[in-house]
Amino acid sequence: MAALTFELQATDGASAARAGTITTDHGQIQTPIFMPVGTVGSVKAVTQQQLKNDIKAQIILGNTYHLYLRPGTPVLEMAGGLHKFNGWNGPILTDSGGYQVFSLAENRKLTEQGALFQSHIDGSRHMFTPESVMDIQRSIGADIIMAFDECPPYPSEYKYARQSMDLTHRWLDRCFARLAETPDKYGYTQNLFPIIQGSTYKDLRTASAQYIASKNAAGNAIGGLSVGEPEEMMYEFTALCCENLPQDKPRYLMGVGTPWNILEGIALGIDMFDCVMPTRNGRNGMLFTTGGVVNIRNKKWATDFSPIDAGLPSEHSQYYTRAYLRHLFVANEILALQLASIHNLSFYLWLVGEARKHIQAGDYASWKNGIIPVLKQRL
Ligand code: GUN
Repeated sequence: MAALTFELQATDGASAARAGTITTDHGQIQTPIFMPVGTVGSVKAVTQQQLKNDIKAQIILGNTYHLYLRPGTPVLEMAGGLHKFNGWNGPILTDSGGYQVFSLAENRKLTEQGALFQSHIDGSRHMFTPESVMDIQRSIGADIIMAFDECPPYPSEYKYARQSMDLTHRWLDRCFARLAETPDKYGYTQNLFPIIQGSTYKDLRTASAQYIASKNAAGNAIGGLSVGEPEEMMYEFTALCCENLPQDKPRYLMGVGTPWNILEGIALGIDMFDCVMPTRNGRNGMLFTTGGVVNIRNKKWATDFSPIDAGLPSEHSQYYTRAYLRHLFVANEILALQLASIHNLSFYLWLVGEARKHIQAGDYASWKNGIIPVLKQRL
């Protein structure tokens, strides 16, 4: 069918924020958007119905690394791709596995050819190359697929960062070449997003952004940030990347972040975000709310019979109380993990929806500056 398109609808006067619409063969995405992470084809503790109807997710993520190891591409192909397998009919994006190999797998070895690694599940040996990762992502069948890259740690020596960036660029060319040789498997178009690297060096980031932009891809991503560098540095490099990327293509800041990171990223011109934070921190009892951050395990909530978040127009967050959710956590009930995940994701989707409204109203920067101190409060 058709390649992904991006229509810009509004830009903010006082920042680089934009509102747009991404169209994929599995539907539209209103940007800026947050994408819940469904690593193994499941957003942990949340059903597809809840994602759609309650959380109002518009696109979810999967991971090549995890899906390749389990259930494996033969099963995904027999199912007719990940959409059919997990029952999520909307857009899906898969990360390429490079980042996960370096954060999860054991005994990793990087060569020009690709990455050798041992599975974190059973220790079995595998090799990812740009070609194999494109083939696996063809079998998974996500609407947006990511280039195979190396994400250098922070801090990295200049020499290492430059060599790593050059390798990521050579791998990108191999990704595009492989994709061009292999047809779509399931009758809809898959769109490759290249990833900017270059660590925390301005000349490298600029060069990488320009190289990525020259590929004229349907969308572009910024990787290698939120890996331990100070927040101000992440913003500085996000801005630098955005300045060197085309206006008319969606920009995806990978693995970011807190609610305020997302609002600052939007102000710098980012359209798409993903992060495990709302689900992972939620499962640990950390709630992001319209009034600030709540540690729901805290004794102070034991008899607080107010809603989880009275300010959030989300059914679960209005219906259940803080006292009840705290009780569920203390009693180790599975429902605690479900409610915290649904709440946090509903909050993230609400937040980007509000951001979009304010961009369209032309007052994004002042709204953002007013709301960030509120969201950061510890309740
Ligand atoms: N997720 C968060 N950061 C990165 C990155 O640099 N590369 C990839 N592939 N995924 C990421």
